[in-house]
Amino acid sequence: MRIFLACSNSCKFLGHILKCERNLMFPCATSPPLRQQVRYLNRTETWFSFTENDFVVCGKPYKKDEWTNVTPYLVPRIKQNLLIKKNHPLALLSEATKRFFDDYKFFEFNDPVVSPHDNFDSLLIPKNHVSRGTSDTYYLDKNHILRTHTSVHQTHCLSAGHDKFLCIADVYRRDAIDKTHYPCFHQCEAFDSFTADQLSLSNIYKNKDQEKIRTPKSQENYSDEATAKVEQHLKKTIENYVRFLLGKDFEFKWVDAYFPFTHPSWELEIFFNGNWLEVVGCGIVEEKILLDHNVSNKISWALGFGLERIAMVRYAIPDVRLFWTDDTNFFHQFTGIGPMDQYTFKEIPPFNPCINDMSFWLPQNSENWSPNDFYDLCRSEAGDLCEYVELIDDYVHPKTNRRSQCYRIFYRSCQSPLTKAFVNTIHDKIAQQVEKQYNVEVRNKLPLK
Ligand code: PHE
Repeated sequence: MRIFLACSNSCKFLGHILKCERNLMFPCATSPPLRQQVRYLNRTETWFSFTENDFVVCGKPYKKDEWTNVTPYLVPRIKQNLLIKKNHPLALLSEATKRFFDDYKFFEFNDPVVSPHDNFDSLLIPKNHVSRGTSDTYYLDKNHILRTHTSVHQTHCLSAGHDKFLCIADVYRRDAIDKTHYPCFHQCEAFDSFTADQLSLSNIYKNKDQEKIRTPKSQENYSDEATAKVEQHLKKTIENYVRFLLGKDFEFKWVDAYFPFTHPSWELEIFFNGNWLEVVGCGIVEEKILLDHNVSNKISWALGFGLERIAMVRYAIPDVRLFWTDDTNFFHQFTGIGPMDQYTFKEIPPFNPCINDMSFWLPQNSENWSPNDFYDLCRSEAGDLCEYVELIDDYVHPKTNRRSQCYRIFYRSCQSPLTKAFVNTIHDKIAQQVEKQYNVEVRNKLPLK
Protein backbone atom coordinates (compact mmCIF):
# COMPACT_ATOMS: atom_id res chain seq x y z
CA MET A 1 0.00 0.00 0.00
CA ARG A 2 1.32 3.40 -0.90
CA ILE A 3 0.58 6.10 1.61
CA PHE A 4 -0.04 9.73 0.86
CA LEU A 5 2.08 11.93 3.09
CA ALA A 6 0.67 15.41 2.94
CA CYS A 7 3.49 17.82 3.70
CA SER A 8 4.54 15.90 6.73
CA ASN A 9 7.26 18.29 7.77
CA SER A 10 5.71 21.67 7.22
CA CYS A 11 3.45 21.62 10.29
CA LYS A 12 6.41 22.08 12.61
CA PHE A 13 7.00 25.44 11.03
CA LEU A 14 3.41 26.51 10.83
CA GLY A 15 3.92 29.68 12.80
CA HIS A 16 6.63 30.83 10.50
CA ILE A 17 4.66 29.94 7.41
CA LEU A 18 1.50 31.71 8.48
CA LYS A 19 3.45 34.85 9.17
CA CYS A 20 4.87 34.66 5.72
CA GLU A 21 1.47 34.17 4.14
CA ARG A 22 0.23 37.39 5.64
CA ASN A 23 3.17 39.37 4.42
CA LEU A 24 3.44 38.14 0.89
CA MET A 25 0.91 38.00 -1.90
CA PHE A 26 2.57 34.95 -3.37
CA PRO A 27 4.40 33.30 -0.53
CA CYS A 28 6.44 30.73 -2.32
CA ALA A 29 8.40 32.12 -5.19
CA THR A 30 9.64 35.45 -6.40
CA SER A 31 9.30 34.56 -10.08
CA PRO A 32 5.82 34.65 -11.67
CA PRO A 33 4.07 31.33 -12.22
CA LEU A 34 4.91 29.65 -15.47
CA ARG A 35 1.78 30.46 -17.44
CA GLN A 36 2.21 34.13 -16.70
CA GLN A 37 5.79 33.95 -17.90
CA VAL A 38 4.71 32.38 -21.16
CA ARG A 39 2.12 35.04 -21.81
CA TYR A 40 4.49 37.76 -20.82
CA LEU A 41 7.07 36.58 -23.29
CA ASN A 42 4.43 36.21 -26.01
CA ARG A 43 3.25 39.72 -25.58
CA THR A 44 6.59 41.42 -25.72
CA GLU A 45 8.51 39.47 -28.31
CA THR A 46 8.37 36.61 -30.74
CA TRP A 47 11.60 35.10 -29.51
CA PHE A 48 9.55 32.45 -27.72
CA SER A 49 5.90 31.42 -27.83
CA PHE A 50 3.88 28.25 -27.42
CA THR A 51 0.48 27.38 -28.84
CA GLU A 52 -1.32 24.08 -29.29
CA ASN A 53 0.47 23.00 -32.50
CA ASP A 54 3.23 25.51 -33.14
CA PHE A 55 5.90 27.21 -31.17
CA VAL A 56 8.74 29.66 -31.57
CA VAL A 57 12.13 29.11 -29.95
CA CYS A 58 15.03 31.56 -30.36
CA GLY A 59 12.89 33.43 -32.90
CA LYS A 60 12.46 30.40 -35.18
CA PRO A 61 9.09 28.71 -35.76
CA TYR A 62 8.54 24.96 -35.28
CA LYS A 63 5.59 22.63 -35.68
CA LYS A 64 4.95 20.06 -32.99
CA ASP A 65 5.47 16.48 -34.12
CA GLU A 66 5.65 13.13 -32.31
CA TRP A 67 9.20 13.98 -31.17
CA THR A 68 8.40 17.31 -29.54
CA ASN A 69 9.00 17.24 -25.79
CA VAL A 70 10.49 20.66 -25.11
CA THR A 71 8.45 22.50 -22.48
CA PRO A 72 7.46 26.14 -22.02
CA TYR A 73 9.09 25.88 -18.58
CA LEU A 74 12.49 25.18 -20.04
CA VAL A 75 12.75 27.48 -23.01
CA PRO A 76 12.92 30.83 -21.14
CA ARG A 77 16.12 29.55 -19.45
CA ILE A 78 17.89 29.90 -22.79
CA LYS A 79 17.51 33.63 -22.59
CA GLN A 80 18.75 34.00 -19.07
CA ASN A 81 22.33 33.85 -20.22
CA LEU A 82 23.84 33.21 -16.80
CA LEU A 83 27.32 33.13 -18.30
CA ILE A 84 27.32 36.90 -18.72
CA LYS A 85 25.21 37.84 -15.71
CA LYS A 86 26.93 40.31 -13.38
CA ASN A 87 28.14 38.81 -10.07
CA HIS A 88 27.05 35.36 -11.14
CA PRO A 89 29.34 32.52 -9.99
CA LEU A 90 29.02 30.81 -13.38
CA ALA A 91 30.13 34.00 -15.13
CA LEU A 92 33.12 34.19 -12.76
CA LEU A 93 34.00 30.59 -13.47
CA SER A 94 33.60 31.06 -17.21
CA GLU A 95 35.96 34.05 -17.08
CA ALA A 96 38.52 32.13 -14.99
CA THR A 97 38.33 29.22 -17.48
CA LYS A 98 38.95 31.54 -20.43
CA ARG A 99 41.97 32.94 -18.63
CA PHE A 100 43.39 29.49 -18.02
CA PHE A 101 42.87 28.40 -21.65
CA ASP A 102 43.93 31.77 -23.03
CA ASP A 103 45.85 30.35 -25.98
CA TYR A 104 42.82 28.39 -27.19
CA LYS A 105 40.52 29.99 -29.76
CA PHE A 106 37.33 30.80 -27.87
CA PHE A 107 33.94 30.15 -29.46
CA GLU A 108 30.55 31.18 -28.22
CA PHE A 109 27.58 29.43 -29.76
CA ASN A 110 24.57 31.33 -28.56
CA ASP A 111 21.90 29.26 -30.25
CA PRO A 112 21.44 25.92 -28.41
CA VAL A 113 19.28 24.44 -31.19
CA VAL A 114 21.29 21.89 -33.15
CA SER A 115 20.60 18.88 -35.35
CA PRO A 116 20.63 15.31 -34.01
CA HIS A 117 23.25 14.69 -36.70
CA ASP A 118 25.72 17.20 -35.23
CA ASN A 119 24.95 16.31 -31.61
CA PHE A 120 25.15 12.52 -32.08
CA ASP A 121 26.17 11.21 -35.53
CA SER A 122 29.16 13.50 -36.05
CA LEU A 123 30.44 12.20 -32.70
CA LEU A 124 29.93 8.55 -33.68
CA ILE A 125 27.21 8.05 -31.09
CA PRO A 126 25.43 4.81 -32.09
CA LYS A 127 21.91 5.05 -33.53
CA ASN A 128 20.50 3.03 -30.63
CA HIS A 129 22.31 4.97 -27.87
CA VAL A 130 19.95 5.80 -25.03
CA SER A 131 21.04 9.46 -24.97
CA ARG A 132 19.36 10.01 -28.35
CA GLY A 133 15.88 9.08 -27.11
CA THR A 134 13.10 11.48 -26.23
CA SER A 135 13.46 10.20 -22.67
CA ASP A 136 16.87 11.89 -22.35
CA THR A 137 17.00 14.66 -24.97
CA TYR A 138 14.79 17.68 -25.58
CA TYR A 139 13.44 17.60 -29.11
CA LEU A 140 11.83 20.60 -30.76
CA ASP A 141 10.90 18.31 -33.63
CA LYS A 142 12.43 15.31 -35.35
CA ASN A 143 15.27 17.34 -36.84
CA HIS A 144 16.01 19.85 -34.08
CA ILE A 145 17.12 19.34 -30.50
CA LEU A 146 18.55 21.41 -27.68
CA ARG A 147 22.24 20.50 -27.55
CA THR A 148 22.95 17.94 -24.87
CA HIS A 149 26.68 18.68 -24.62
CA THR A 150 29.24 21.15 -25.89
CA SER A 151 30.98 18.30 -27.77
CA VAL A 152 28.41 19.06 -30.50
CA HIS A 153 30.59 22.02 -31.47
CA GLN A 154 33.61 19.89 -32.24
CA THR A 155 32.16 19.42 -35.70
CA HIS A 156 31.50 23.15 -36.14
CA CYS A 157 34.97 24.23 -35.03
CA LEU A 158 36.77 21.52 -37.02
CA SER A 159 34.73 22.39 -40.13
CA ALA A 160 35.81 26.00 -39.70
CA GLY A 161 39.45 24.88 -39.70
CA HIS A 162 40.17 25.08 -35.94
CA ASP A 163 41.71 22.17 -34.06
CA LYS A 164 42.63 23.96 -30.84
CA PHE A 165 39.67 25.65 -29.25
CA LEU A 166 37.52 26.29 -26.20
CA CYS A 167 33.79 26.64 -26.04
CA ILE A 168 31.45 27.34 -23.11
CA ALA A 169 27.69 27.11 -23.48
CA ASP A 170 24.35 26.12 -21.99
CA VAL A 171 23.27 22.49 -22.54
CA TYR A 172 19.98 20.66 -21.90
CA ARG A 173 19.13 17.19 -20.67
CA ARG A 174 16.04 15.44 -19.38
CA ASP A 175 17.19 14.04 -16.09
CA ALA A 176 16.47 13.36 -12.44
CA ILE A 177 15.46 16.14 -10.04
CA ASP A 178 17.82 16.62 -7.13
CA LYS A 179 20.28 19.13 -5.71
CA THR A 180 22.86 18.56 -8.43
CA HIS A 181 20.68 18.06 -11.51
CA TYR A 182 18.87 20.74 -13.44
CA PRO A 183 17.51 20.35 -17.00
CA CYS A 184 19.66 23.23 -18.19
CA PHE A 185 23.31 23.51 -17.20
CA HIS A 186 26.57 24.81 -18.62
CA GLN A 187 29.49 22.96 -20.10
CA CYS A 188 32.97 23.75 -21.26
CA GLU A 189 34.70 21.89 -24.07
CA ALA A 190 38.40 22.16 -24.84
CA PHE A 191 40.16 20.54 -27.77
CA ASP A 192 43.84 20.40 -28.66
CA SER A 193 45.74 18.75 -31.51
CA PHE A 194 49.32 17.71 -32.09
CA THR A 195 51.57 16.85 -35.00
CA ALA A 196 54.40 14.33 -34.68
CA ASP A 197 56.82 17.29 -34.48
CA GLN A 198 54.99 18.83 -31.55
CA LEU A 199 55.25 15.53 -29.71
CA SER A 200 58.96 15.15 -30.64
CA LEU A 201 58.16 11.93 -32.51
CA SER A 202 58.93 10.93 -36.05
CA ASN A 203 55.42 9.58 -36.56
CA ILE A 204 52.11 9.57 -34.69
CA TYR A 205 50.93 6.36 -36.39
CA LYS A 206 51.80 2.70 -35.81
CA ASN A 207 54.61 1.28 -37.97
CA LYS A 208 53.85 -0.82 -41.04
CA ASP A 209 54.82 -3.99 -39.19
CA GLN A 210 52.60 -3.23 -36.16
CA GLU A 211 49.15 -4.75 -36.13
CA LYS A 212 46.48 -2.07 -36.58
CA ILE A 213 44.08 -3.17 -33.89
CA ARG A 214 42.32 -1.26 -31.17
CA THR A 215 43.58 -2.01 -27.67
CA PRO A 216 42.63 -0.54 -24.29
CA LYS A 217 45.68 1.73 -24.71
CA SER A 218 45.22 3.08 -28.23
CA GLN A 219 43.08 3.30 -31.36
CA GLU A 220 43.81 1.29 -34.51
CA ASN A 221 46.19 3.72 -36.16
CA TYR A 222 47.78 5.94 -33.52
CA SER A 223 50.91 4.52 -31.91
CA ASP A 224 50.95 3.75 -28.18
CA GLU A 225 53.76 6.25 -27.79
CA ALA A 226 51.91 9.16 -29.44
CA THR A 227 48.77 8.27 -27.51
CA ALA A 228 50.67 8.18 -24.21
CA LYS A 229 52.23 11.59 -24.84
CA VAL A 230 48.88 13.17 -25.67
CA GLU A 231 47.32 11.48 -22.64
CA GLN A 232 50.00 12.99 -20.46
CA HIS A 233 49.44 16.47 -21.90
CA LEU A 234 45.68 16.12 -21.45
CA LYS A 235 45.86 14.93 -17.84
CA LYS A 236 48.41 17.59 -16.90
CA THR A 237 46.23 20.28 -18.48
CA ILE A 238 43.20 19.15 -16.49
CA GLU A 239 45.06 18.76 -13.21
CA ASN A 240 46.58 22.22 -13.61
CA TYR A 241 43.21 23.69 -14.46
CA VAL A 242 41.54 22.17 -11.41
CA ARG A 243 44.43 23.34 -9.20
CA PHE A 244 44.16 26.80 -10.74
CA LEU A 245 40.51 26.91 -9.69
CA LEU A 246 40.36 24.97 -6.44
CA GLY A 247 43.85 25.42 -5.03
CA LYS A 248 46.25 22.62 -4.25
CA ASP A 249 44.42 20.90 -1.41
CA PHE A 250 42.10 18.50 -3.09
CA GLU A 251 42.26 14.79 -3.57
CA PHE A 252 41.68 13.48 -7.07
CA LYS A 253 41.89 10.25 -9.04
CA TRP A 254 41.73 9.23 -12.70
CA VAL A 255 39.32 6.49 -13.71
CA ASP A 256 38.88 4.81 -17.09
CA ALA A 257 35.70 5.84 -18.89
CA TYR A 258 33.87 5.33 -22.17
CA PHE A 259 32.70 7.97 -24.63
CA PRO A 260 31.83 7.07 -28.24
CA PHE A 261 33.94 9.95 -29.56
CA THR A 262 37.18 9.34 -27.64
CA HIS A 263 39.42 6.34 -27.03
CA PRO A 264 40.99 5.82 -24.60
CA SER A 265 38.75 7.88 -22.31
CA TRP A 266 39.02 8.94 -18.69
CA GLU A 267 37.20 10.82 -15.97
CA LEU A 268 38.74 12.92 -13.25
CA GLU A 269 37.07 12.47 -9.88
CA ILE A 270 37.65 14.73 -6.93
CA PHE A 271 36.90 14.02 -3.32
CA PHE A 272 34.32 16.48 -2.04
CA ASN A 273 32.12 16.37 1.06
CA GLY A 274 32.88 12.71 1.63
CA ASN A 275 32.12 11.60 -1.96
CA TRP A 276 34.03 11.06 -5.17
CA LEU A 277 32.57 13.42 -7.76
CA GLU A 278 33.12 12.99 -11.49
CA VAL A 279 34.11 16.42 -12.69
CA VAL A 280 35.76 16.11 -16.10
CA GLY A 281 35.31 13.64 -18.98
CA CYS A 282 38.04 13.43 -21.59
CA GLY A 283 39.99 11.28 -24.01
CA ILE A 284 41.91 10.91 -27.25
CA VAL A 285 39.63 12.01 -30.08
CA GLU A 286 38.57 9.22 -32.44
CA GLU A 287 40.71 9.59 -35.55
CA LYS A 288 37.60 9.19 -37.73
CA ILE A 289 36.25 12.48 -36.40
CA LEU A 290 39.40 14.28 -37.51
CA LEU A 291 39.42 12.54 -40.90
CA ASP A 292 35.72 13.38 -41.41
CA HIS A 293 36.81 17.01 -41.17
CA ASN A 294 39.87 16.62 -43.37
CA VAL A 295 42.35 16.82 -40.51
CA SER A 296 45.15 14.31 -41.01
CA ASN A 297 48.56 13.70 -39.46
CA LYS A 298 47.28 14.96 -36.14
CA ILE A 299 46.27 13.37 -32.86
CA SER A 300 43.89 15.32 -30.60
CA TRP A 301 42.44 15.31 -27.14
CA ALA A 302 39.06 16.63 -26.03
CA LEU A 303 37.75 17.37 -22.57
CA GLY A 304 34.37 18.43 -21.25
CA PHE A 305 32.95 19.38 -17.89
CA GLY A 306 29.92 20.94 -16.26
CA LEU A 307 30.47 24.40 -14.85
CA GLU A 308 27.82 24.05 -12.15
CA ARG A 309 29.54 21.06 -10.60
CA ILE A 310 32.89 22.85 -10.41
CA ALA A 311 31.25 26.05 -9.15
CA MET A 312 29.43 24.07 -6.44
CA VAL A 313 32.78 22.74 -5.26
CA ARG A 314 34.67 26.01 -5.72
CA TYR A 315 32.16 28.18 -3.84
CA ALA A 316 30.46 25.51 -1.69
CA ILE A 317 27.05 26.17 -3.29
CA PRO A 318 24.68 23.52 -1.90
CA ASP A 319 21.86 23.47 -4.45
CA VAL A 320 21.96 23.80 -8.23
CA ARG A 321 18.70 25.79 -8.26
CA LEU A 322 20.51 28.68 -6.60
CA PHE A 323 22.24 29.44 -9.91
CA TRP A 324 18.82 30.29 -11.34
CA THR A 325 17.51 32.34 -8.47
CA ASP A 326 16.86 36.06 -8.60
CA ASP A 327 17.39 36.22 -4.87
CA THR A 328 19.63 39.13 -3.99
CA ASN A 329 20.91 37.22 -0.93
CA PHE A 330 22.65 35.00 -3.39
CA PHE A 331 24.04 37.65 -5.73
CA HIS A 332 25.11 40.08 -3.03
CA GLN A 333 27.51 37.46 -1.79
CA PHE A 334 29.36 37.48 -5.11
CA THR A 335 29.52 41.26 -5.50
CA GLY A 336 33.13 42.35 -5.67
CA ILE A 337 34.43 38.78 -6.02
CA GLY A 338 36.84 38.46 -8.94
CA PRO A 339 37.13 35.44 -11.27
CA MET A 340 40.32 34.35 -9.54
CA ASP A 341 39.14 34.89 -5.95
CA GLN A 342 38.35 32.00 -3.64
CA TYR A 343 35.05 32.46 -1.83
CA THR A 344 32.92 30.24 0.41
CA PHE A 345 29.20 30.76 0.02
CA LYS A 346 27.38 31.44 3.26
CA GLU A 347 24.43 29.14 3.15
CA ILE A 348 21.09 30.63 4.06
CA PRO A 349 19.56 28.10 6.51
CA PRO A 350 17.21 25.95 4.44
CA PHE A 351 13.47 25.92 5.10
CA ASN A 352 11.85 22.59 5.82
CA PRO A 353 10.61 20.75 2.77
CA CYS A 354 7.02 19.75 2.12
CA ILE A 355 6.89 16.12 1.09
CA ASN A 356 4.03 14.60 -0.91
CA ASP A 357 3.84 11.19 -2.53
CA MET A 358 2.07 10.51 -5.79
CA SER A 359 1.31 7.03 -7.02
CA PHE A 360 -0.40 6.08 -10.25
CA TRP A 361 -1.28 3.18 -12.50
CA LEU A 362 0.47 3.42 -15.84
CA PRO A 363 -1.59 2.71 -18.97
CA GLN A 364 -1.34 -0.80 -20.45
CA ASN A 365 1.22 0.10 -23.15
CA SER A 366 3.70 1.90 -20.95
CA GLU A 367 6.96 0.69 -22.60
CA ASN A 368 7.81 4.22 -23.71
CA TRP A 369 7.15 5.74 -20.31
CA SER A 370 10.27 7.12 -18.62
CA PRO A 371 10.54 8.58 -15.11
CA ASN A 372 12.09 11.57 -16.91
CA ASP A 373 8.59 12.26 -18.29
CA PHE A 374 7.35 12.68 -14.76
CA TYR A 375 10.37 14.75 -13.66
CA ASP A 376 9.87 17.12 -16.56
CA LEU A 377 6.20 17.48 -15.74
CA CYS A 378 7.05 18.27 -12.10
CA ARG A 379 9.44 20.98 -13.31
CA SER A 380 6.78 22.40 -15.59
CA GLU A 381 4.12 22.61 -12.89
CA ALA A 382 6.21 23.28 -9.77
CA GLY A 383 9.16 25.09 -11.32
CA ASP A 384 12.10 25.51 -9.00
CA LEU A 385 9.95 24.74 -5.95
CA CYS A 386 10.53 21.11 -6.77
CA GLU A 387 13.79 20.17 -5.10
CA TYR A 388 13.95 16.42 -5.38
CA VAL A 389 11.80 13.67 -6.83
CA GLU A 390 12.44 10.06 -6.02
CA LEU A 391 10.89 6.97 -7.55
CA ILE A 392 10.16 5.02 -4.37
CA ASP A 393 8.09 2.15 -5.71
CA ASP A 394 7.60 0.44 -9.06
CA TYR A 395 5.59 -2.75 -9.12
CA VAL A 396 3.33 -4.86 -11.31
CA HIS A 397 0.12 -6.17 -9.82
CA PRO A 398 0.38 -9.98 -9.93
CA LYS A 399 -3.25 -10.53 -10.93
CA THR A 400 -4.12 -7.61 -13.21
CA ASN A 401 -0.60 -7.10 -14.59
CA ARG A 402 -1.06 -3.35 -14.15
CA ARG A 403 2.08 -1.39 -13.35
CA SER A 404 2.11 1.17 -10.60
CA GLN A 405 4.77 3.71 -9.69
CA CYS A 406 5.06 5.93 -6.68
CA TYR A 407 7.13 9.10 -6.58
CA ARG A 408 8.08 11.09 -3.50
CA ILE A 409 8.25 14.81 -4.25
CA PHE A 410 10.16 17.20 -2.04
CA TYR A 411 8.95 20.77 -2.42
CA ARG A 412 11.18 23.47 -1.03
CA SER A 413 12.00 27.00 -2.06
CA CYS A 414 15.50 28.42 -1.68
CA GLN A 415 13.93 31.80 -0.92
CA SER A 416 10.93 31.49 1.35
CA PRO A 417 8.96 28.90 3.31
CA LEU A 418 6.07 27.14 1.60
CA THR A 419 2.61 26.62 3.00
CA LYS A 420 1.06 23.17 2.94
CA ALA A 421 -2.03 24.55 1.20
CA PHE A 422 0.04 26.12 -1.55
CA VAL A 423 2.08 22.98 -2.12
CA ASN A 424 -1.10 20.93 -2.29
CA THR A 425 -2.43 23.08 -5.13
CA ILE A 426 0.76 22.47 -7.09
CA HIS A 427 0.70 18.78 -6.26
CA ASP A 428 -2.87 18.63 -7.47
CA LYS A 429 -1.93 20.27 -10.77
CA ILE A 430 0.83 17.72 -11.29
CA ALA A 431 -1.72 14.96 -10.71
CA GLN A 432 -4.14 16.50 -13.21
CA GLN A 433 -1.43 16.96 -15.84
CA VAL A 434 0.09 13.52 -15.50
CA GLU A 435 -3.37 12.01 -15.99
CA LYS A 436 -4.11 14.25 -18.95
CA GLN A 437 -0.77 13.94 -20.73
CA TYR A 438 0.12 10.32 -20.02
CA ASN A 439 -3.21 8.65 -19.46
CA VAL A 440 -2.23 7.35 -16.03
CA GLU A 441 -4.63 6.87 -13.14
CA VAL A 442 -3.56 8.68 -10.00
CA ARG A 443 -4.26 6.49 -6.98
CA ASN A 444 -3.92 8.98 -4.16
CA LYS A 445 -5.66 12.18 -5.19
CA LEU A 446 -5.84 14.95 -2.63
CA PRO A 447 -9.29 15.10 -0.99
CA LEU A 448 -11.61 17.67 -2.63
CA LYS A 449 -11.91 20.85 -0.61
N1 PHE B 1 30.56 15.44 -23.84
C1 PHE B 1 30.87 14.59 -22.72
C2 PHE B 1 29.69 14.69 -21.72
O1 PHE B 1 28.88 15.56 -21.83
C3 PHE B 1 32.14 14.97 -22.02
C4 PHE B 1 33.36 14.77 -22.87
C5 PHE B 1 33.87 15.79 -23.65
C6 PHE B 1 33.98 13.53 -22.86
C7 PHE B 1 34.99 15.59 -24.43
C8 PHE B 1 35.09 13.32 -23.65
C9 PHE B 1 35.59 14.33 -24.40
O2 PHE B 1 29.56 13.89 -20.82
